[in-house]
This record gives sequence, C-alpha cells and structure tokens, in this order.
Amino acid sequence: MERVIVNDVGPRDGLQNDPATVSPADRAGLIRDLVAAGVPAVEAVSFVSPKAVPKMAGAAEVIAALDLDAADFSALIPNRKGYELAREAGVRSVAVVLSATDTMNRKNINMDLDTTVRVCSEILEQASRDGVNGRAYVSVALGCPYEGDVPEDRIRDLTRTMFDAGATEVIVADTIGAGNPAQVKSLFSRLVPDFGADRLSAHFHDTRALALANAWQALECGIRKFDASIGGLGGCPFAPGAAGNLATEDLVSLLHQAGFDTGIDLDALLAVVDRVRELVGHPVGGRALAWLHNHRAAAAAAG
Ligand code: HMG
Ligand code: MG
Repeated sequence: MERVIVNDVGPRDGLQNDPATVSPADRAGLIRDLVAAGVPAVEAVSFVSPKAVPKMAGAAEVIAALDLDAADFSALIPNRKGYELAREAGVRSVAVVLSATDTMNRKNINMDLDTTVRVCSEILEQASRDGVNGRAYVSVALGCPYEGDVPEDRIRDLTRTMFDAGATEVIVADTIGAGNPAQVKSLFSRLVPDFGADRLSAHFHDTRALALANAWQALECGIRKFDASIGGLGGCPFAPGAAGNLATEDLVSLLHQAGFDTGIDLDALLAVVDRVRELVGHPVGGRALAWLHNHRAAAAAAG
C-alpha cells in the first residue's frame, strides 16, 4: 500500500484560535495521544509573541514534555526570535510562515512581503547550517482574505525562493479555505513538475466544505503529505474567515477507504477526538465523525 504522511497541526493551528486555553501539560498530553494513535508528524507548537497569540504561550514547556524521538515534531516560527527560542527548546524541525500577499504578512507577522521573504530565507539558511529541518509555509496560496486571488506565478516564485534558501519542504496552504478542486489541480499541476511532489505538502481549511475534495485533487497530482487537524479544530486569528482545518479523522478515513496507508489507527484517533472535546469544552469533529462513531459502534457490536 502506498504511504501518505499526515501531519497533525491541531495542537498549533487548532488550539491557537480556540476559545479555550489549553495548558502546556494538556497540549503535550494531546500530542502524545496523537503519536500513540500512529500519527507520524505533529506541528506541536509555535514560538510567537504571547501578546499576539496567547493560546500558544508555553511552547518550550510543551516541547520539554515530549520524547522528541517519538515522531516528527515541528514548530511554527514567525521571525528570528522564534527560531532562537525553538533552538533553545531543542526543536529539530521548524516551519517559517510566508504569506503570498503583502497585506496578509503585515496582518499576521507585521512585516511586508519583501521583508518576510528575506527573513524566512535567512532563517532557512541558518537552519541548514545548524542541521535543523527547515520547512516553509506559502500561505493564502488559493486566496487571500485581504487581496483576493493570488497569481499562480507568484506562488511558484515564492516556492522556488524558499527551496533556494534551503527549505526541505514547502507547505502550500489555503489559509481561509478559499480554494476549489479546479484551482488545486491547476496550481499543483504547475508546482509538482517544477519542484517534485515529494518536497511539497498541502494544508487545507474546510470553510466551504471543500477541504476533502481539495485533498483528493492534490493526491491526484501526486502529493503524499498533508496537514490536518484533529477534530477539525483550527483557524488563523489574523485571517478573517479562516474556519477549521481539514479534520484529521476525515482525511484518514478518506485515505484508508481509497487504499492508502497512513500508519494511523482510526479507532484510536476517534478516541483522541473525544479527548480534544473534553479539553476545549465544546463540540469538535470533522464532517464524517458521526458516521465514523456509528460505524465503530456497529463493528464493536458485531464482535
Ligand atoms: P511585532 O510587535 O512586530 O514584534 O510582532 P516585535 O519584534 O516588535 O516584538 C514585540 C514583542 O514581541 C517583544 O516583546 C518581542 O520580544 C516579542 P516585548 O518587548 O513587547 O515584551 N517577540 C516574540 N516573543 C515570542 N516569540 C517570538 C517573538 N517575536 C517577538 N517569536 C510578531 C511581530 C511576529 C512577533 C507577532 O506578530 C507574532 O507573534 N505573530 C504571530 C502570528 C501567528 O502566530 N499567526 C498564526 C500562525 S500562521 C497560520 O495560522 C497560517 C498557517 O496555518 C498556514 C495557513 O493556513 O495558511 C501556518
Ligand atoms: Mg492554517
């Protein structure tokens, strides 16, 4: 069976925007539960200003509570200070955030596009020298909440710049779930021949119920690594309209039905969704959750 890597970004993209504040100890517990369910990669934290994103405070505590050999753990970083803090905490894999429009960068990390390109490039170059795995988000790739449509040429050029600076992977991100499968096909059909499917991954938000369809289209284009968020938690506080991420359980269910291997135990993953609901104190879950629970109960009853 062909392997697809699922990177759970719930502890970062999910919890950064949730009304609930989850303690570092509970965030580490959630991450351990994800790994125990077989999730091979987790974006565990972000090293960002606690004034800008209070829910991500305590990132170093989360990292200290993890066995860093247990999975591929990464940290989102917005600037050099974030990189230094991540290094001090012992993080081995970082992701810089480059949005494809000037306004989105200013709103998200208070830098214009050119400055963001320069800072991200410098961090990636430093990461290569330090032996740290440096990844790069190219955000608002399928639509910006401030500037609307983004030309594909710009996404391709920014992707090339990130690889030239030493990125090991570029994560093409639909920050506000603006993309549709036709757009996804068009964009990835251009990126894959230039950069290789094995160096690209896809990050979808489910605002318009198109995240699974978009993921399927990216799969058809050869992409074999996806971000998703347990329980569908998620959204960027600086991108109006950014709703939940593609739910990990929806993605894993799709992948297993279509004959791909993820290494993830779907039953164990559903138990993690239950745990997330307890942690945040409100209903969570992707679009397939009710069916998945019923199916599990029926299978258990049948022995
Ligand atoms: P700023 O105010 O311009 O920063 O904010 P500054 O350099 O002037 O520093 C202000 C204060 O923040 C100082 O502290 C710094 O030390 C501190 P003070 O002197 O006031 O006590 N500071 C930091 N503290 C911790 N970690 C840091 C850091 N940097 C400075 N790294 C800044 C600029 C980037 C800091 C701020 O805007 C920020 O933290 N932004 C984070 C934004 C964020 O986390 N957004 C969500 C993640 S992106 C996303 O969700 C999209 C994604 O999922 C993909 C997709 O869907 O497209 C990835
Ligand atoms: Mg996101």
